[in-house]
Amino acid sequence: MQNMNITRKSPLKLANTPVSVPGDKSLSHRFVIFSSIIQGGSECTGFLEAEDPLHTMKCFSELGVHFEKIGESSYKVSSPGIKSWKSPNKSLDFGNGGTGIRLSAGILAGSPGILATLTGDASLQKRPMNRILDPLRKMGAKIASMHSDGKAPLKLEGVQLKDYFYESPIASAQVKSCLIFAAMASGVSLEYKEPELSRDHTENMIRFLGGEIEYLSATHFRLKPPYNFSGKKFSIPGDISSASFFIVLGLLAGDGSILHIKNIGLNPSRIGIIEVLKLMGGKIHIVNQREECGEITGDLEVFGSELHRINIEEKWIPSIIDEIPILTIAGIFSKAGFSIENAKELRAKESDRIHAMVVNLKKLGIQVIEKEDGYSFEEITDLHTGAEIETFMDHRIAMSFSILNAVINLDLKIDDVSWVETSFPGFFDKLKSLVS
Ligand code: S3P
Repeated sequence: MQNMNITRKSPLKLANTPVSVPGDKSLSHRFVIFSSIIQGGSECTGFLEAEDPLHTMKCFSELGVHFEKIGESSYKVSSPGIKSWKSPNKSLDFGNGGTGIRLSAGILAGSPGILATLTGDASLQKRPMNRILDPLRKMGAKIASMHSDGKAPLKLEGVQLKDYFYESPIASAQVKSCLIFAAMASGVSLEYKEPELSRDHTENMIRFLGGEIEYLSATHFRLKPPYNFSGKKFSIPGDISSASFFIVLGLLAGDGSILHIKNIGLNPSRIGIIEVLKLMGGKIHIVNQREECGEITGDLEVFGSELHRINIEEKWIPSIIDEIPILTIAGIFSKAGFSIENAKELRAKESDRIHAMVVNLKKLGIQVIEKEDGYSFEEITDLHTGAEIETFMDHRIAMSFSILNAVINLDLKIDDVSWVETSFPGFFDKLKSLVS
C-alpha cells in the first residue's frame, strides 16, 4: 500500500459530451403504483429499467396488472383497477427496494380481500419496517412482520382502514407515501404532518392526475376521498440522485472543464445536493428549466471548481439523504475537510451508510470520527492506494468510490459493483465515456 498526494487542482479532463442519466427511481416506483390503481390504460417514457423498479413492476403484475414494454424505457399499462386486483399466488419480492416494499405495503394493506406476503433480498430484510407497521395498524391494518422483529417478510390481509391523522417523527417520503396509498386504497381521509418536508413526488402525482391536497403548512396536509383518477401519459426525467455522481465528477475535474447533464428532475425537495455543493464553492448552473407531469426538470452545467468545508444544516438532510456518500467524496477534496451530522437516517438505508462510509474512508487512510448521526474528517492531503472497498450490498457506496477512483487513480478494488444495477444500469459505460 502506498500513499498518493491529493490536490484540489485536479488534472482530470472530461470528454466534451453531454451526459444523461436513467429515469428517476422514486417516480418510476410511483408510476407503477398509480398506473396499477387506475382502471384502464396509462403510459410512460423515461421509466428506470433497473432492478428496483422492475421488481415493483413484477409484483404489481402478480396482482393482475399488465405492463407492456413499447420502447426503450417506455411502457404501456393496462389495469383492471384497484378494486379488481387479485391476491398474488406467491410472495411479492421487492429485491433491494425499500420504496417498493413500503409503498406497496400501504396500498395492499388498505385493499380489502387481498392476502399477500412482501419480501426482498438480504439487505431489505434488515431494514426497519415498524416505521410503517405502527401507523398502518393505527389505521386498522392487519399487517405483521413474519419474524416479529419489525422487518420483512411482511404478511398482510387487506382490510377497510379508518380516517387517520399521523404526525410522523421522521421526515420520510416512504412512510408518508405508504400512508397516502393506504388511505387511497380504502377511500378514507388522511391528515399528515412531518418534521421537515420529505420528497413530495406522490403528492405531485396526485395533483398531476387531477386530485386535490389541502395544505395547512408546507409540511402538513389533508387528503380526502374521492380518489377517482384516470389514465395519463407520464414522462419521467433523469434521476438527480444518479446525476449527483456526475455532478461531483464535473466539479472535481480540472479548471476550465464544463460538464453538461441533460434532462434531470429538479423537484425542490430533491435539489439539496445542488444547493449544498454550491455552498461548498461548486459552480453549477440550471438551464432550460421547464415543468413536465407536475415535476420541475432542467439541464445542468457543472464547472470544475474548488470546494471548501461548510456546516451542512439539519434542514438540508432530507433532501440530500441519498447523496451523502457522493457528497463525502466531494468532501475528500474540500479545503478544511468535511462533516455531516443530524443524519441518523443514513443507518436505515440499503446499508448502514454511516458505518459503510467510515469503514471505507478508514481504508483510504482518512482519520474519520464516527458519531451516531454522522461523521467528520479534517482536510485530506494524501490517500492510500489499492484499498479494498466494501459495498455492503449498497449501490450508492459502489458508485461513490468508483467516482473517487476516476478523479484520482487510487487503484481501488471494489468488492461487488453488481449492486449498481439496482438503480443505475450503464453507470460504468457512462463513466468510461467521460474519463477515458
Ligand atoms: C424514497 C425516499 C427516501 C429515499 C429513497 C427513496 C422514495 O427514503 O432515501 O431512496 O422514493 O420515497 P425515506 O423515505 O426512508 O427517507
